[in-house]
Amino acid sequence: MIKSRYFLLASVGLFSFIAGCQPSSTETADATIADTGEQHRLVYHFTPPEQWMNDPNGMVFYDGEYHLFYQHYPDSNVWGPMHWGHAISQDLVHWEHLPIALYPDSLGYIFSGSAVVDHNNTSGLGAEGNSPMIAIFTYHDPPKEGEDPDNYLQTQGIAYSNDRGRSWTKYEGNPVIENSGIKDFRDPKVFWYDPGQNRTAGRWVMILAVADRIHLYESPNLTEWNFLSEFGENSGSHGGVWECPDLFTLTTDSGEERWVLLLSINPGGPNGGSATQYFVGNFDGNTFTNENPEDMSLWLDYGKDNYAGVTWSDVPASDGRRIFLGWMSNWQYGQEVPTYSWRSAMTVPRTLHLVETEAGLRVASRPVEELEVLRTNAVALEAMMLEGNQNISSQLSQPSATLELTVDFDLNEATASEIGLRLSNSQGEELMVGYNLADEQYYVDRSNAGKTDFSTDFPGRYTADRVGDGSMLSMHLFIDVASVELFGDDGTTVMSNVFFPNENFTQVDLFAEGGTVSVTGGQLYNLSEQSVIAAR
Ligand code: FRU
Repeated sequence: MIKSRYFLLASVGLFSFIAGCQPSSTETADATIADTGEQHRLVYHFTPPEQWMNDPNGMVFYDGEYHLFYQHYPDSNVWGPMHWGHAISQDLVHWEHLPIALYPDSLGYIFSGSAVVDHNNTSGLGAEGNSPMIAIFTYHDPPKEGEDPDNYLQTQGIAYSNDRGRSWTKYEGNPVIENSGIKDFRDPKVFWYDPGQNRTAGRWVMILAVADRIHLYESPNLTEWNFLSEFGENSGSHGGVWECPDLFTLTTDSGEERWVLLLSINPGGPNGGSATQYFVGNFDGNTFTNENPEDMSLWLDYGKDNYAGVTWSDVPASDGRRIFLGWMSNWQYGQEVPTYSWRSAMTVPRTLHLVETEAGLRVASRPVEELEVLRTNAVALEAMMLEGNQNISSQLSQPSATLELTVDFDLNEATASEIGLRLSNSQGEELMVGYNLADEQYYVDRSNAGKTDFSTDFPGRYTADRVGDGSMLSMHLFIDVASVELFGDDGTTVMSNVFFPNENFTQVDLFAEGGTVSVTGGQLYNLSEQSVIAAR
């Protein structure tokens, strides 16, 4: 049986709850930007207005607005009694903070979960003529002071809103699923299952993480739930607790449809700590079956910083996208990163795609097209035979730490051992995003990227096998002050990582080490340096 992380976090949370009542050193009036870590605040990624944030929750599209809720502790910059913070956006890029949506109550903290639009008012919780939004979440009832820190109980609860998510009422019959006797029993993701695509003939299905298994439930009305089946005993990685599952269909360009099951695992990720694995297979309304070998682990993102990600519910069929967002941090060090007035960001929103590769069907992630509105200045990279370093940021009209870059390499006749790009500053700090031709691996190296000493698990060179093949290799990068997201070969290999330079990285060089490589083209963009997050 895997030991739960809440053994540790429960005591941290209790401490921070007490500490949160007193002003910390970061709250003094003369605090400098460096003291608060504001210098590392991302510009176009979602960050909390202040204090602690972890998983994205309850993502749902309703009446022209994308809702983003998130695990939030408003009284401290470390994890503690969980609330659901809330923000909305009309374009997935510009966000407006709204007041906290859900507060802890006598049944416990409000842990991760999902939200749906109850179009047919199956729950009966809709006001006259209104389709209510329903949030489905885990109640975490923590141990009392002095009790065994492992003595907690998790159940599932729901809340509803009849005013477009602006105010929420907890259902009086909570919890809707009692604890089954297993400690880690959480993170419900609910969807409407209707193979006939007829909103009146379907039912609700919930996927829940239970220790290191998945449990599936069904319900006619979101309040009464029946157990359906279990998945996962021998499938995928079991190096940690399973959390934050999701289940949905994706279709390849040639029309092959599969069910994809996302699942976050902590620890046990491919580069250490937290990461998200996925399974490809079938769901028949009762049971999920994995079509790959049981011992195969597939990872959505090989970076150290993409965890607990799930997808938006109720995106209109006319749009058709499966849009994903992850927490851009890692439980190994998320509570120690050198930002004090706020902690952690979300990834850029991404669309998920089922693609045919030589190895089989795989899930690719691509940045949403809406991000293009951030571009303020573009420079086309000319074709060149690259050897050593080539500064490309000098071509921009102004230096910037918020950039987007695409670059295409032709590996035919390449003699270089490693190719890629280097971000650097005048203090000799650097971050490398590269590809090793002999190992056929992408990598991100942040061992000399600024502040790294807050955790021994932070600095390092992290690798990912290349999934794409062929001699044309493409890198698409998003850089935002303290983060880099690499989408290799059209998103078939993804790496998301954060970093904390002592001075912003504004110099960008392409490099080819140990020989040459042909660069066939690319684009470098300045992205807006104006925060896209409206103040609360
Ligand atoms: C994942 C997670 C979830 C849980 C939440 C608590 O990061 O551990 O399983 O619901 O965070 O904040």
